Amino acid sequence: MNLNEETNPAEAQNEQSNIVEVRLTLNGETKYIQWKKQTPLLDAMLNAGIDAPHSCCRGTCGTCVCKLEEGEVRLKRNFVLSEAHIQQGLILACVAVPISASIKINYDKF
Ligand code: FES
Repeated sequence: MNLNEETNPAEAQNEQSNIVEVRLTLNGETKYIQWKKQTPLLDAMLNAGIDAPHSCCRGTCGTCVCKLEEGEVRLKRNFVLSEAHIQQGLILACVAVPISASIKINYDKF
């Protein structure tokens, strides 16, 4: 028996709890991706092959703005959005990390 091939239940549990389900709508299409909690949302989308709009990737240009329709995220930094924007649910995908386990975002409506 090769011990390296065994699945450690604690590791599997950690791996699962490290993943957030994202439903996103972009250019009229709705897709589902998995988002690792340590990764910015933009990186998760690009890694999944989604051509999400972006430019600076540092929270300074606003190109990646989308609307958070369900769930909760934290912005690691924000030099673009006002408090009013945030109250409307707008987020910056390049600096967003998840708080809730399920997220719904929309690039087409805001
Ligand atoms: S890509 Fe510039 S703020 Fe996100």
